[in-house]
Amino acid sequence: MGRNIAIDGPAGAGKSTIAKKAAQKLGFIYVDTGAMYRAIALYFLRQKTDLSDQDAINSACAKIDVRIRYEDNVQQVLLNGENVNGSIRREEVGNMASKTSAFPQVRAKLLDLQRKLAAEEDVIMDGRDIGTCVLPEAELKIYLTASVQTRAKRRFLELQEKGATAELSEVEKDIEKRDYQDMHRETAPLKQAEDAILIDSSDLTIDQVVEKIIFCFQKKMSAAESRNVTVAKSAGFCFGVKRAVENVYEAAENSGKKVYTYGPVIHNEEVMKDLEEKGVCVLNRKEELTQAKDGLVVIRSHGVGKDIYDFLEKEKISYLDVTCPFVKKIHKLVRKYNEDGYHIIVVGNAGHPEIIGVCGWCSEAETTVIDSLEEADNFVPPDGKKLCVVVQTTYNYKKFKDIVEIIQKKGYYINVLNTICNATDERQTETAKIASEADAMIVIGSRNSSNTRKLFEISKKECENTYYIQTMEDLDLSALQNVNNVGITAGASTPNNIIEEVQNNVRIKF
Ligand code: F3S
Repeated sequence: MGRNIAIDGPAGAGKSTIAKKAAQKLGFIYVDTGAMYRAIALYFLRQKTDLSDQDAINSACAKIDVRIRYEDNVQQVLLNGENVNGSIRREEVGNMASKTSAFPQVRAKLLDLQRKLAAEEDVIMDGRDIGTCVLPEAELKIYLTASVQTRAKRRFLELQEKGATAELSEVEKDIEKRDYQDMHRETAPLKQAEDAILIDSSDLTIDQVVEKIIFCFQKKMSAAESRNVTVAKSAGFCFGVKRAVENVYEAAENSGKKVYTYGPVIHNEEVMKDLEEKGVCVLNRKEELTQAKDGLVVIRSHGVGKDIYDFLEKEKISYLDVTCPFVKKIHKLVRKYNEDGYHIIVVGNAGHPEIIGVCGWCSEAETTVIDSLEEADNFVPPDGKKLCVVVQTTYNYKKFKDIVEIIQKKGYYINVLNTICNATDERQTETAKIASEADAMIVIGSRNSSNTRKLFEISKKECENTYYIQTMEDLDLSALQNVNNVGITAGASTPNNIIEEVQNNVRIKF
């Protein structure tokens, strides 16, 4: 994976000269994105493409192939196989490039090529939108600028050297006009990326700016090296969720039927969006199941009550049961104890699908759901009934113990079955341990995932600096700037690719 430095800034700030020098010193490849735009401009010029005709621009873009090759570390630009390094520096090509680089089709054409280069090599890239658009994940972003007067003076001297005549005031006006255009254009306008370092080169020499960039880069790299990032081994999909998700994907791809899930198969928006794109449809109420007459209903890992199975059988609707075996075991236990005359206490959140499912395996009149110490205090069992206690698989063990203690003190005959899943217990214990040693903790998971929320609460108790995020996009980059020990954990429904993305960014980017 390449390390990337993005340099953006207005025209005349010295970006390309400075980027080239810094690349040489660091042993990076300097990617001259301007040359790529010039190659496309050259094609437009040669073909006399009408720039007011969108169809003509689209069809020209489709015929253009721009490639980059390096000879002795010097970038060679190939336009449809021809090396055009010698032709693209002409003034008319530059003027054409400044017009055509604003076309979205042209930018899209080069975006892939630029990103591919940056992914494979250590590169320094300069332009107007490198840090904000082309390489938003760059290790270092620089916004290089200088006052209009300074840039005008530099340009004026350049023109004088070339023997051209120009008025300084005119050059200044041109630069102001160019700045305005670059900052206000519709596609990828020039602006400083939030996490870019601003360098004003007005009173600095080229070498001073280069040294400054190298210093910033080395500082970033050494901060990244000294940062200790611990990712919980238990982070991410548990056995039951993994099994359920894999089965839904398999059914969507191979069952030959329209696939429905009874409730979301997983509390994760990214995965649900992906499944939706694959044609999987979520049904939320029993009555809606009739829509799945010719399809296949997947019963998710949370499980369902007996009435749902009865309904599916009665309506002759095909189904695939991927209830987690640990949840299935609770169904069997409550059913058996209930049949043996026990009153069932289910410790958990009454509105959670798992608890709704568990309650669906015993008689309503002989089941009580308890979710707080207060509810445990107020609980009065039916006369002479023995009690059987089970608990939501993702419940907090300490809270469960406190609730059980209250019921036990009342002196009833009570059979306590700790049905908290090991995966949850392990995840919570590991989270508490990592959080107690971390300067900052990141908890990844969907906002509506109860097990992730519990991890967040546990972590927050140990580490005030705990952040709850759904994806990398939610992470405030500046929050971890001065932090050395970072812990990462994730709920049972967080896909691995999201955990990996966060982990990579925390290790390298901050
Ligand atoms: Fe099953 Fe435990 Fe996961 S009960 S769904 S393996 S948290």
